[in-house]
Amino acid sequence: MGTHAGFVLWFTGLSGAGKSTLSEHLLEEFRIRGYKVEILDGDEIRTHLSKGLSFSREDRDTNVRRIGWIARILARNGVIVITAAISPFREIRDEIRTDIDTEGRTTFVEVYANAPLDAVVERDVKGLYKKALAGEIKNFTGVSDPYEPPLNPEVEVHTSTESIKESADKILNYLAGNSLIDVGA
Ligand code: ADX
Repeated sequence: MGTHAGFVLWFTGLSGAGKSTLSEHLLEEFRIRGYKVEILDGDEIRTHLSKGLSFSREDRDTNVRRIGWIARILARNGVIVITAAISPFREIRDEIRTDIDTEGRTTFVEVYANAPLDAVVERDVKGLYKKALAGEIKNFTGVSDPYEPPLNPEVEVHTSTESIKESADKILNYLAGNSLIDVGA
């Protein structure tokens, strides 16, 4: 445990695709196993560190790069970092992956929370899709702003059809299979 390297579990997906829910679930799973773990959640980061940033491409890139930077410095100090931001642009996610790979002290694990737009609109947990579809919120990801799915995510979970446990187990199995967490832990 003492030599555990940490890694970045990078969720990407539409608003309402289950990134935060899965993050909270995994947080507990890692804690039970005795790992140090932090969640960097888009909504939370935007109330503190990224307060004042908009949802323009430029501001999203700034937000996501900040998350990437904190994630990297925490993970290289042995923390499991779970990030839960839409992070809609492939270029920025890949940039963060490259930074982490180049430094070579920790690992970037991209998890695509794949839920069809229909499903997230139907659930509309925060009531934002209704507003976005009515044109009350501009540049809303998936409605009036792009979402670029990862081409080769390490793990893909289908959160509209799988249970939280099924999705979480897929992720834990990947991590154990790649020696990022102890097997059978
Ligand atoms: S990101 O694009 O910069 O990665 P982030 O994950 O931090 O986004 O914030 C997304 C959350 O902000 C959504 O879950 C939603 O609650 C809220 N939100 C408000 N406006 C928008 C918008 N235009 N597009 C997407 N999400 C928005």
